[in-house]
Amino acid sequence: MGELMTLYLNNEQATLDFAAACAPVLAEGGLVFLEGTLGAGKTTFSRGLIRALGHEGAVKSPTYTLVEEYPLPAVTVCHFDLYRLGDAEELEFMGIREYLQQQALCLIEWADKGRGVLPAADLVLRLADAGNGRQLSWQAGTERGRRWATALEQLAATWEQA
Ligand SMILES: Nc1ncnc2c1ncn2[C@@H]1O[C@H](COP(=O)(O)OP(=O)(O)OP(=O)(O)O)[C@@H](O)[C@H]1O
Ligand SMILES: [Mg+2]
Repeated sequence: MGELMTLYLNNEQATLDFAAACAPVLAEGGLVFLEGTLGAGKTTFSRGLIRALGHEGAVKSPTYTLVEEYPLPAVTVCHFDLYRLGDAEELEFMGIREYLQQQALCLIEWADKGRGVLPAADLVLRLADAGNGRQLSWQAGTERGRRWATALEQLAATWEQA
């Protein structure tokens, strides 16, 4: 894992806006784990990202469907929430290999439920409660993730909250 980098997000809009700023970087496609406790802001981050990539409708939490797929101009986004996954092996039946083999951007909430089946993430994004806002941190797990982490660090350095 690469160096840990962090950014404070003071409200929901900040999460949406920073996620949108990350969109051009993550549009390359790859595997991102979104970590954090219930209500940390994982779906909010995903929503900001998916909207910035051109999706105009709602971004529902895939809690019950397990995955929502968004074929967008720059990249197809597959947004997973594995909270209700019974067994990591169910991922095989869902066709997780095909999802991962596409040039898609796979965003996975509660990826620990898929441990043993999911490969290492390019990037882990973690959200944690901090005061009234959230502390966002990220860590690379692959060479591609290291490039992304550096790009996000540059975004964070010049980023001003609304
Ligand atoms: N930076 C922030 N500061 C304060 N509140 C925030 C921030 N980002 C998101 N929120 C709020 O956090 C709440 C929970 O968001 P969200 O549904 O995205 O969490 P989640 O991590 O996906 O939860 P779950 O584990 O249930 O899927 C929402 O009410 C959202 O407005
Ligand atoms: Mg969620």
